[in-house]
Amino acid sequence: MAILITGGCGYIGSHTAIEMTKAGYEIVILDNFYNSKPEALRRLRELAGREIPFYKCDIRDAEGLRRIFSENSIEAVVHFAGLKAVGESVSKPLEYYENNVGGTVNLCQVMAEADCKRMVFSSSATVYGMNNPSPLREEMPTGAVTNPYGRTKYIIEEILGDVCKADPEWTVINLRYFNPIGAHESGRIGEDPNGIPNNLMPYISQVAIGKLEKLSVFGNDYDTHDGTGVRDYIHVVDLALGHVRALDYAMKHKGAEAINLGTGTGYSVLDIIKAFEDANSVPVPYQIVGRRPGDIAVCYSDPSKAERLLGWKAERTIRDMCRDSWRWQSNNPNGFDS
Ligand code: NAD
Ligand code: UFG
Repeated sequence: MAILITGGCGYIGSHTAIEMTKAGYEIVILDNFYNSKPEALRRLRELAGREIPFYKCDIRDAEGLRRIFSENSIEAVVHFAGLKAVGESVSKPLEYYENNVGGTVNLCQVMAEADCKRMVFSSSATVYGMNNPSPLREEMPTGAVTNPYGRTKYIIEEILGDVCKADPEWTVINLRYFNPIGAHESGRIGEDPNGIPNNLMPYISQVAIGKLEKLSVFGNDYDTHDGTGVRDYIHVVDLALGHVRALDYAMKHKGAEAINLGTGTGYSVLDIIKAFEDANSVPVPYQIVGRRPGDIAVCYSDPSKAERLLGWKAERTIRDMCRDSWRWQSNNPNGFDS
C-alpha cells in the first residue's frame, strides 16, 4: 500500500515526502513540474535514501491519474498540487479555479473510482479571511477571502466537506497552514521561487545574499507592537511532520476535519529581520514603504486542536527557521539551478 503525494516536488511536498518516508510510509509522487524542477526530485530521493516512484502528471489529466491508481495500490492522497501566488490569482482567476478547484474535483473522481477515499489537503489560514481575530480557531467562520487564490482553498474545503457528507466512507483533513518558512537542515532542498519573491523569507534571503538590494517593509502603521505585520511562521519540517501525523489520523477516522498547522506565536516583520540578522550574522537592509493591498495586521493560530487530535506541535524556533533558510539560500544561490 502506498500514499500518493500530488505536488510532491514543490516546497512543502518535497519536505513532506522525506518525513513520510522516514516514518515508514511507501510513497508515490506526482507533479507536472509547473513550479518545481526535476533536480528537487533527485535531491529528495537522495535525502530519503530510496528510489521513490514518480509520475510526471497533471491532476487535471484523468487518464494519467487512472494509470497511477492502476499501477499502484494507493490508500490515501496527500494533496499539495496547486497554484499559490496571491497576486497572480487576481489577474488570472480562471487559471486558478481550473487548476486548483477543477484539478481537485478531477482527482477526487479518480480516487472514488479507485475506491481510495482518504485525503490530506493543503488548505491555508487565508480561509479565515479578514474578519476573524487571532488566535484563529478552526470553528471560526471561513470564506471572507479577498483574492481568487484564497477562494480556491475555501471552495475546495467546502467541496471536500460535501463529498464526506455524501459518502461516509470518505476522510478528509483540511490542514490550514500558517506561514511556512525555513528549509531542510541538510541545505539540499528549500523554497525556490521563480523571479522576484512575493513572500517575506525568500525576499530577506535574497537581500542577505546580495541578489536584491533591500527589503521593502509593507507598512509600519498597523496596530501591532512595532507597527509592522504579524504572522505565525512555521518551520517547513515541522509542517511536514504535521502531515505525517494527519495521515496517521486519517487512517483511523472518517469524515472531514479542519486543523491549523501553526506555532501559535506571532512575529512582526521587524522581529523576523532581527532574528535573521542575529541567527546568521548578515545584515538585511530595509526601507519602510506603504501597506500592501489585501494584507491584514495580525494572523496567528490557535494550534491546540492539532495537539489534541494529532499529538503534534511545532518544535523548531524562529532562529532555526532563519538559520535553515539561510543555509539553503547560501548553499544554493540560484536555487535548484545552482
Ligand atoms: P509549490 O508551488 O512549491 O508546490 C506545488 C507543486 O504542485 C509544484 O511542484 C507544482 O509544480 C505542482 N503543481 C501545480 N499544479 C499542478 C497540477 N495541475 N498538476 C500537477 N502538479 C501541479 O507550493 P508549496 O509552497 O509547496 O505549496 C503546496 C500547497 O500548499 C499548495 O496547494 C499551496 O497552495 C498550499 N499552501 C502553501 C502555503 C505557502 O505559504 N507556501 C501556505 C498555505 C497553503
Ligand atoms: N512583507 C513585507 N515585505 C515583503 C514581503 C512581505 O513587509 O517583501 C510582509 C507582509 O506585509 C506580511 C508579512 O511580511 O506582513 C508576511 O508576508 P508573506 O507574503 O510572506 O505572507 P502572507 O502572510 O502575506 O501570505 C501567506 C501565504 C499566502 C496565504 C497567506 C494567508 O504566502 O499564500 O499567508 O494564509 F494566502
